[in-house]
Amino acid sequence: MSEKLQLAVIIGSTRAGRWGPVPSQWIAERAVEHGAFEVDLVDIAELGLPHYMTEEDQWSTPGAPSAAVAGLGERLHRADAFIVVTPEYNHSYPAPLKHAIDFYMREWAAKPVGLITYGGGAGGQRAAEHLRQVFPELRATTIRHTLMFSMYWERFDDRGEFTGFAEAEPHAKSFLDELEWWARALVDARRATPLPA
Ligand SMILES: Cc1cc2nc3c(=O)[nH]c(=O)nc-3n(C[C@H](O)[C@H](O)[C@H](O)COP(=O)(O)O)c2cc1C
Repeated sequence: MSEKLQLAVIIGSTRAGRWGPVPSQWIAERAVEHGAFEVDLVDIAELGLPHYMTEEDQWSTPGAPSAAVAGLGERLHRADAFIVVTPEYNHSYPAPLKHAIDFYMREWAAKPVGLITYGGGAGGQRAAEHLRQVFPELRATTIRHTLMFSMYWERFDDRGEFTGFAEAEPHAKSFLDELEWWARALVDARRATPLPA
């Protein structure tokens, strides 16, 4: 059997009353069921990252960063793949997600990123498109498949269950299959040859 891949699922919203943990938990469970992944669910809201980036916390500064930044860095470093679950805020993704991304450089490099979005009519896809501009700078690659939940607030049944998850199941399988392919390819590539500086 192939070795398990380490997958970090990042909850991209930190707002009081946010929906973000719901789809994040859902995809974390689908990823465990899929069989290729061990999952670390990363909630930016719980990490206590500093609001402003000090000199010591910048990835380019040699030496140890603060405990919160070092702690998330460890978790990202361990990951072979990422899933970022993000809403759309004003046609982009939330500022706290960008803040968390910006503390790190090496931790993202040569790893795949799957994007799951939600929001109004566009399903949060404008957030995804902005993240597709950001991750190549960190030398991470976003995968083609995405999952999106448009107008999710209109899609609850009589028992209060979100109906979009059942519809998304087959797409989740394709999404995770593609993420696994990239993660295994890049694990092998990193082992064979270090990424040039
Ligand atoms: C500040 C803010 C800006 C928003 N802008 C958009 C937007 O541009 N497009 C959209 O589809 N939804 C937008 N929404 C609606 C969000 O997609 C929706 O509230 C979603 O639940 C937010 O994710 P969260 O609950 O995890 O914070 C916005 C919501 C907030 C709070």
